[in-house]
Order: sequence, then structure tokens, then C-alpha cells
Amino acid sequence: MYRTHTCGVLRIQDVQTEVTLAGWVQTIRKFGAITFVDLRDRYGITQLLFGEELNHRLEQQPLGREFVVQIRGTVLERSNKNPNIPTGEIEIQVLNYTVLNSSAVPPFTIQDDTDGGDDLRMKYRYLDLRRNMVKHNLELRYAVNRSARNYLHENGFMDIETPFLIKSTPEGARDFVVPSRMNAGQFYALPQSPQTFKQLLMVSGYDRYYQIVKCFRDEDLRADRQPEFTQIDCEMSFVEQEDILRMFEGLIRRIFKDVKAIDYTDPVEKISWENAMWRYGNDKPDIRFGMPVVNYKFPPHVFPAKQGALSHGLPGGFKVFEEAETVVAISVPRCSDYSRKQTDELTEWVKRPQIGMSGLAFIKCNPDGTFKSSFDKFYSETQLKDLATAAEAKAGDLILILAGREERTRKAISELRLEMGKRLGLRKEYEFKLLWVVDFPLFEYDPGENRWIARHHPFTSPKPSDISIMINNSPVIDHPEKYLEHPYANIKANAYDMVLNGNEIGGGSIRIFQRGLQEKMFAALGMSREEALHKFGFLLGAFEYGAPPHGGIAFGFDRLCAILGGSESIRDFIAFPKNNSGRDVMLDAPATIDDQQLEELHIRINLPG
Ligand code: AMO
Repeated sequence: MYRTHTCGVLRIQDVQTEVTLAGWVQTIRKFGAITFVDLRDRYGITQLLFGEELNHRLEQQPLGREFVVQIRGTVLERSNKNPNIPTGEIEIQVLNYTVLNSSAVPPFTIQDDTDGGDDLRMKYRYLDLRRNMVKHNLELRYAVNRSARNYLHENGFMDIETPFLIKSTPEGARDFVVPSRMNAGQFYALPQSPQTFKQLLMVSGYDRYYQIVKCFRDEDLRADRQPEFTQIDCEMSFVEQEDILRMFEGLIRRIFKDVKAIDYTDPVEKISWENAMWRYGNDKPDIRFGMPVVNYKFPPHVFPAKQGALSHGLPGGFKVFEEAETVVAISVPRCSDYSRKQTDELTEWVKRPQIGMSGLAFIKCNPDGTFKSSFDKFYSETQLKDLATAAEAKAGDLILILAGREERTRKAISELRLEMGKRLGLRKEYEFKLLWVVDFPLFEYDPGENRWIARHHPFTSPKPSDISIMINNSPVIDHPEKYLEHPYANIKANAYDMVLNGNEIGGGSIRIFQRGLQEKMFAALGMSREEALHKFGFLLGAFEYGAPPHGGIAFGFDRLCAILGGSESIRDFIAFPKNNSGRDVMLDAPATIDDQQLEELHIRINLPG
């Protein structure tokens, strides 16, 4: 028997017990004739005491960091207790030990505060995974996995696997492809999601499906994106949007409870896509704090139903505002005392290429009721007061104003709002706030190809009331510059995203389930009949055999874990992640393959240069 106990279980009650432990040497400290060793395994750390009688052996058979050793010894009460670890009241007087394996000197310290940089830790990920922090993340991931499975199982969902070697499923990214040796010149695509399969399972009658499944997308990577990532993928039949929202709010509540011991009883707010853009400049707003966007000026066709903050519009005289398509602001509480240096720094912040604004205007709403702005030359005090009133600013607030092209300015104000929220400490890591964003536009305009693309995916149903717009109008865009006036621009989708603390953690929709409407959708996206049949004939065919009404959702499992773990980076929650160039630096993948393999696959490499 290698061990009687793990390195995490022994307590004061176990004093005098004889035990056998096995694990890794974390640290070695010599004090004269005695040696202390911290022995580590997955469960914790136990202090070992090598007395004088073992000195001779230790010289002959020394221990080193990360050696794997087995020890036999007696549990003693420690004189110098360590309250910071669960085994801190005891130590083991070692009677005998065996080195099961030695270790090379690790390239970085295996500790919470490691000296290893990102690349080094990824190259030796198997050592990095020994660190507590990474281990806790993987434990959290497993807890989320178990919680989700329990909830879904209890609610009648059935886990059904779907294939990885398939034909393209469009989710808006590029496919990873796999050449087929047996079918020369042909390729499989790896699924961007199991979307079409889960819909086929609905046609087959498995009315509650789920899978915790890998998805593959060849797209630009960021902290919250990996080329292969995991979804909690779900689908239900005979449901409307409300049924789905209720079921999956339940899932997230359950995960909060099981994993974080949080009773999330607040109702989950719902906001339309249009209101999210209007109030937060963003379709995944962080609602842990207020600071809504104030719309002083905006192009009327973008928000036709909305009223600007100023009943008479912006006063003239200030060219920057006059010439801008959009002028938006946020009112930052208790910051009217910002110094010149601080406002200059914020101006530089909005000018960074990632934000891309040419400047920042501001109004200080002084505590004494006066106003001071960066454009005093052009606006009177009364006019400034009007702007402040429209922004519902209080004395002591700082109004930050951005002006420019609609899309960029709205994006920038959203980023500025998040930044100010962060600076003011309003985005607390462990405060969780859920939100449903609903009523997305069905289509997005692609100026490059002058056509519509599906905002979610081509299987998403329009809102029932908007189906007739799709059926009765041609998708052709005669006037690209006025695409927002095309009837298709107003069609709303039966789609929803779940947002947690400003991150999109899930997205789904009610699906099209009639062949005719699905064909119409493909045509709206510029697909010919032949192309639609070639790509999705199987689905159109299935819709002829009694497809039930259905809908579903998929959660970004890695993202959900990262947020619950208080981190922005999903990599920390994946055992073997890829870096930002999509490489696995430990395996050194991707890599070239040998000529014989290429030949078998009938592939010739044709690199430029
Ligand atoms: P969608 O494309 O919105 O929907 O994906 C669902 C969720 O998956 C997460 N996600 C990612 N996580 C890490 N890395 C990535 N590259 C990545 N891409 C997406 C996000 C996202 O909300 N088939 C549909 C779902 C449906 O309609 O039921 C789909 O895949 O958190």
C-alpha cells in the first residue's frame, strides 16, 4: 500500500497514529541536525520531521524539490503550529522513507506566487497544474460541471453525444478542417457547435437534450476566447422563449448555489437589445452599477423610437458637437473634483487606438451648484446646467462626453463606463448580476458583400409578428448607404443572451422548424437554392418529417467558470489551454506532418515565398 492517508487529512486527533504518506517534496528546511520537509499532494500539505537518526541516510539519499517520496512515520502535535493550513497542528516524525522518483529542478517555483512567466508555465503546464491556484480553478470547473449535470438530469434532460467529424455548422467563425484519407480531396469540418445535431435530435423526439461539449472555432483569440472551448449545450421541444428563460435561469441559480453557496433569488432582469444599446452602448451590459449613457444627440434612423435627453437638441456653437453624428455622456458620481491631470489622463485613455476617440469633453458639476466644462468658451452656464439636468447629474458629479461617428462613439462610451465603474470600485469580482438580453435584430448588414448575415445563426426564428416582413419583402439591398431603412433591418429575432457581470455567458434562440421558412432564411442570407441544399439538405429534409417547435441555448462553460472564479481569463480554467496564437506550447502544436502522411491525404503544401 503506497499510503494510508493523503497529505490533507491528518489532524490533532490523529496524534500518535502511525501513517504512510506519499507525495511531492514542496520545500526542504534544515535546522541543525533536523530537517523539515513539506510534502504535497492534491489534497494538501503535511509537514515532515526528519530527526537526527535519519541524517546519515539523507546525506546518502538526499531529497530535492518535486521528488516523489513515500514516508512512514508517527503523527505528532507541533510545537510551532501553523494556523494557515488545515494540517497545521500536526507534523509527522519520519521513521523511514523511500524515494519513489527523483525530479529535475523545476523551471519555476510550484507555489501560489510563482516566479514563472506565462509562456514558461504553459510549456510546463503539467507542473503549473500542481499549483494550488490552478488546482482550485479546475476543482471549481468540476463543481460547475457536476452541478449542471445534476440540474439538467433532474429536469429530464438526456446527455447525447454528437460527432466531431462533420460538415460545417455556421456560428460566424471559420471552421477547423480535417482531411479525409479515405475520401481523397475531401474534408470534414470540426463543429463550431452541435447546433444542427441538437435540432435533429428534436426532430427525433428527444425533447430535452444536453451535452457538455467541445466546440471548435477558428477566430481571433482574446482573454475570453479559445479555439477549442466547451459549451453546456441544450435544446428543448414544445417550448416558447419564456419556458427556456425560466429553465436556464434555474440552471444558473443552481450553479450559484452549489458552487458558490449563493442564493440568487433576485428576478433576472430582461432588457431588449435596443434598450441595452441605448442605455449602456453595449449588448452585454454590466448592471452591477448604474451610470447609464445619456443620449444628447444620435442619428434618428438608428433609434427611431427613442427621445434624446434634451428636448430642444444640443445648443449650437461648439463645432465638435455640431459636426458629430452622435454625442453621448455618462455622469460619474462624486468626481467633480478631478484635477487637470486626471481629466488629461482620461482624455489620453479615450484616444488609445482600442477606443479610438479624438477627444473627451467634460462638465464638472461643482458641489456649490456652479458648472465648469472643457468647452466653457462655447456654452453658457445655463446651457451647461441644461446638459447636467438632462444627464440627471448631481452636484459633485463629473459628466464625461464623447462625440463622433455613431458606432464607434457608442462603443467608446460603453468602454468608458466600464472603465469608470472599475476605477470607482463598482465592479466587484464576487458580486454577481444576471441579465437577459432579448429581441436582437435577426440580421446584421455585411457591407463587404452588401448582404444580410444572421446575427445569431441561420436557424434562429424571427419573432412571430415579424415573419410576414421576411416573407413579403425581398432581401436585396438596393441602397447600401440606407440599409437601416430596409425592412429586414427591423426584423427582430426570437433570440436571447444571458449576461453575467458584463460577459455573454450564453446565447440561444427559438428555432425555425418549417422547411419553407428555413429556405426563405437561407435565401435572405444570399444562399442559392442549390447551395442551401448542398449545405443543409439534411436539415431541410428532416423538417419534412414532423419537426416539433423547439429552441435552446448554449452556455460558454469556460467563461462561466472564469467569472465564478473571479477571473477574466478563461485559460486559467482549462487544464491544457492554447496561447493567443492558438498554439499549444507544451506539445508544440500545430506542427508540420511528414511527407508520407501528406501523400496519403493527397495534400500538397503551398506556402508563399
Ligand atoms: P454562441 O455562438 O452564442 O451560440 O455560443 C454560446 C456561448 O459560448 C461561448 N463562446 C465561447 N467561449 C470561449 N471561446 C470561444 N471562442 C467562444 N465562442 C462562444 C459564449 C457564448 O455565449 N449554437 C449556438 C447556441 C444556441 O443557439 O443554442 C451557439 O453556439 O459564452
